[in-house]
Amino acid sequence: MLRIAVQSKGRLFEDSINLLSEADIKVSAGKRTLLAQAVNFPLEVLYLRDDDIPQSVASGVADLGIVGENEFQERSEAADVICRLGFSKCRLSLAIPKDIEYPGKEWFNGKKIATSYPGILSKYLKEQGIDAEIHVITGSVEISTSIGIADGIFDIVSSGSTLVSNNLREVEVVMHSEAVLIANRNLTDDKKALLNQMVFRFEAVRSAED
Ligand code: PRP
Ligand code: ZN
Ligand code: MG
Repeated sequence: MLRIAVQSKGRLFEDSINLLSEADIKVSAGKRTLLAQAVNFPLEVLYLRDDDIPQSVASGVADLGIVGENEFQERSEAADVICRLGFSKCRLSLAIPKDIEYPGKEWFNGKKIATSYPGILSKYLKEQGIDAEIHVITGSVEISTSIGIADGIFDIVSSGSTLVSNNLREVEVVMHSEAVLIANRNLTDDKKALLNQMVFRFEAVRSAED
């Protein structure tokens, strides 16, 4: 029996459940139970906050997980990326109030940036030689500039409507992200065989969509 961790609600939830169902793995979803069993595949689904998925897979609480690449990178947990899943595509970008003149990345020197992704952001700033202050907040990052707690933000951009409605302008794309399937590094041979079957089905779903 394999156990897969998926997001309990949010941007990945629906697509994760759809992928399983298109792969003909039937799970009773949405019942707010923490753990649900598939009826026609030896799989258990564990519903978690996306932030907790990388660690649950690294520690073996779950064998597999479906999570955004951004979340996986941010947590830097020891697990393997098995494949990209092609959904929940977004980018992680720097944005500033739309009326401010932006000469280039150097604008961020000495500025304060609000984000929920301090790990990815600090790595980027270091690579770019930018010395900015990172202000970590867990939600509603997009309002930080208007309430005066930061000069810019670093956050997920998907449709871009959050930026527009908060009078922000995307100025640097730092990474592109999509959902990925991750696996624990010490799966037994039996579990590996089941994983291969699942990945085979996922690939069939994706090539049918292309
Ligand atoms: C992300 C991000 C923005 C929004 C951007 O939040 O923090 O709020 O999505 O998407 P858009 O470009 O389509 O408007 P998410 O929905 O992941 O929820 P969270 O902020 O609670 O993590
Ligand atoms: Zn999250
Ligand atoms: Mg949000």
